[in-house]
This record gives sequence, structure tokens and C-alpha cells, in this order.
Amino acid sequence: MNAATKMASGLALAAILATPALAGPDDDNLIVNGEIEMITETAAPAHMEYVDTIYSGWRFRSDETQVVQTDDFDNPGMIWVEAAGEVWETADGSEGKSCASCHGAVDEAMKGVRAVYPKWNDERGEVTTIEMEVNNCRENRMGADKWKYAGGDMTNMVALISSVSRGMPVNVAIDGPAQATWEAGKELYYTRTGQLELSCANCHEDSYGMMIRADHLSQGQINGFPTYRLKNTKLNSVHARFKGCVRDTRAHTFAPGSAEFVALELYVASRGNGLSVEGPSVRN
Ligand code: HEC
Ligand code: HEC
Repeated sequence: MNAATKMASGLALAAILATPALAGPDDDNLIVNGEIEMITETAAPAHMEYVDTIYSGWRFRSDETQVVQTDDFDNPGMIWVEAAGEVWETADGSEGKSCASCHGAVDEAMKGVRAVYPKWNDERGEVTTIEMEVNNCRENRMGADKWKYAGGDMTNMVALISSVSRGMPVNVAIDGPAQATWEAGKELYYTRTGQLELSCANCHEDSYGMMIRADHLSQGQINGFPTYRLKNTKLNSVHARFKGCVRDTRAHTFAPGSAEFVALELYVASRGNGLSVEGPSVRN
């Protein structure tokens, strides 16, 4: 990009950013159900060059939004987690099997899974997300139809799987066979796109703590996904959120489940290594 365009896009962003009275994250602690202590702030992983401390998006929300996530009875996302708990036990497809037929109890079988995904899968020879694993089980192990990648059935199931890892630190591997995918994701994160010529980093690395219109900008972490949003009153998947953010830069966006978004998810997840799994979290 030449200097003139760079300045123009910088100005476009500068024009919509404002410094709030309270810049940066607040000092609140997140404890869910009086027992799950969440790490919402920790030292940035070594691979991050420009950020010293990482924060959960929860720390940038208002007190009214924050409190909704502190108790499962108040967190509307838990209604879908419960619904997915029933689906877990229900047979589907030509093999007459449920998730439980093979995996047993979800809180034992899936504990720790959300913390390490996306992850390299040797058998498939690619990095997979939880959604890809679930659809692989449905299609090839149950003889059932695949779920829509970012649809309700899938997102609710991912929320159930996340919920049993709440509190555990995110710890995705970025070396070995996953490295090339991670690098592709990093490239996407720093690439300016759209009419506004903005990268993820322009907002979530250079400008977090600022106000963008009515929103307090966070670091764009995904440790809280799936996220219940007050805005659309349902659980939202990682790729649906990526799609929304890319669209906001007025760029052509990738499809949920695309190789690009899988790579971006691995990279963004790795920027949160050390923060607790919070899904289903609550955001505005
Ligand atoms: C016929 C047996 C079978 C059924 C039914 C089944 N799975 Fe699986 N699933 C497996 C096997 C085998 C693996 C790969 C080995 C492993 O991780 O346990 C796996 C892996 C997974 C993984 C990755 C776990 C990890 O540790 O990396 C997830 C997530 C998953 N299944 C979710 C589901 C869900 C959700 C359902 C129901 C919609 C389901 N599975 C149904 C057999 C099954
Ligand atoms: C024009 C600024 C802007 C750009 C560019 C942008 N976002 Fe966002 N993003 C936002 C705003 C505003 C929010 C809502 C407030 C918040 O959580 O930061 C948000 C929220 C998010 C969240 C939810 C965080 C949470 O805790 O729930 C994620 C994840 C995210 N963005 C990822 C990305 C990624 C990945 C990219 C690049 C593809 C990107 N964003 C590009 C403005 C932006």
C-alpha cells in the first residue's frame, strides 16, 4: 500500500475511534457459579510481538453485561447447552447411534477438548476445528447428515463441548505440522481488506480499549466462544463473528468452515493461549 492510501485508511479508522473515560480493560474478576475462576488477563504468549498482556473480551464489557455470565441460571447461552445435552444422548443417522453411544458422558469425554482446538489431525492430514470433528462423526461414524457449519445445531453442540472445559487455559499447538496453517492465519490477521483497508490487527491490536461507535474494542479473543450475544439473542460461533468483522471493513468475506477461517481461527486462538475457556460467554 502506498503512503497516501495508508494515511487515508488510518484516518478512516481514526475518525470513528474515541477514547473512553475508562480506556483499556477494567479490573473485575470473573468467577462463574461462585466456583470456576477464569483467567481473564495473563502474559501474552511468546509468539506475539506487539502485545505484552492479553485480556478476555469479558473485561471490556459493561458491568451489566459482565454479570450475566457469572451464573449459569442467568446466562441464556446455557439453555442451548442443555438442549445440546439432549441431542448428545439422542440416536441419529443410519447407524442408530448417539454421540453418547461412543463417547459416553460429555463432561468426561470432552473435558479439555475446547482448550486445544483447532488442532492438527494426523488421520485427515489437516488442522481441524471442533465443528469439523463433529461433522466427521455425524457423516462417517453415525451415517447422519452434516450440520450447517455455523448453524444452531452445531453451535449449540460446540457450546456444550466448550462448557465442560470452562476455566481451563487455552493451549493450542502452533508448531510441527500445524505451523503452516498458523502462518496462513497470521498473514490473514495482518492483511488490510475492504474499502476501509483495515486488518484485524488495526482494530484488535492497535486500538483495543478505544470506543468504536458504541462499542468498547477488545483484543478480539475467541476464548469465550460460542458467545451468547445480547444483540441477536443466540449463540454465535467463531466463524460467524469473523464474518461479521470482515464485513464491517466492507470486504468480501470467507465462508464459515473455509480453509481461510480455519487458519485464522488457529492463529486467533493462539493469541489467547493462557486465557480460560469461557464458552458459552456473554457479550453485547
Ligand atoms: C461411532 C462412534 C462415534 C459416534 C457416534 C460419535 N463419535 Fe465423535 N469420535 C469418535 C472417534 C473414534 C473419534 C476420534 C478418536 C477420539 O478422539 O475419541 C471421535 C472424535 C470426536 C471429537 C474430537 C475429540 C478430540 O479429543 O479431539 C469430537 C469433538 C467428537 N468426536 C464429537 C462427537 C459428537 C458431538 C458426536 C455426536 C453428534 C459424535 N462425536 C459421535 C467416535 C464417534
Ligand atoms: C473496524 C474495526 C474492526 C476490525 C477491522 C475487526 N474487528 Fe473484530 N470486533 C470489532 C468490534 C467493534 C467488536 C465488538 C467489541 C469487541 O468485542 O471488541 C469486535 C469483536 C470481535 C470478536 C469478539 C470478541 C469477544 O470477546 O467476544 C472477535 C473474535 C473478533 N472481533 C475478531 C476479529 C478478527 C479475526 C478480525 C479480522 C478478520 C476482526 N475482528 C476485525 C471491530 C473490528
